[in-house]
Amino acid sequence: MTTAQKQRPKYYDLNLAHLPVPGLVSIFHRISGALLFFPVLPVLLWLLQSTLASEQGWLRWRGVFADPAVKVVVLAFAWLYLHHFFAGIRYLLLDLHLGVAKEPARASAKLVFAAGALSTLLLAWRIW
Ligand code: HEM
Repeated sequence: MTTAQKQRPKYYDLNLAHLPVPGLVSIFHRISGALLFFPVLPVLLWLLQSTLASEQGWLRWRGVFADPAVKVVVLAFAWLYLHHFFAGIRYLLLDLHLGVAKEPARASAKLVFAAGALSTLLLAWRIW
């Protein structure tokens, strides 16, 4: 058996905490994409229909969204979208062969997390 074969792990390490940052961005991109498709998109369309249908509907939802607990949920879903958006831009740049080397790829992955978190905080500041 060669040294490389001896060093090869015998099982996959599925612990997210052990993943490099680009791996985490990738997993969150996939999870956020799936959650945006369901339930976020259908719920948003239903809310749009409900708020546009009547004045009572609009007033009812305005009351619901004034609740701080609901605002936290909205921010969590906003972060999903923002992370997906910034990670999506990163993947499109990688598709153009921009920033594919290890160090720039790690830096842009960190930038994606920072941009998602900062823009969510900005939104929190706007809606509170
Ligand atoms: C409601 C809006 C959106 C939904 C429901 C959605 C959903 C998804 C899903 C399900 C995937 C597949 C994820 C995977 O299997 O890895 C995906 C991939 C992708 N999304 Fe979105 N997305 C949305 C918005 C956006 C936006 C605004 C961007 C703009 C940057 C974007 C960029 C991408 C890219 C580039 C990929 C491919 C990533 C790769 O190469 O693996 N998406 N999206």
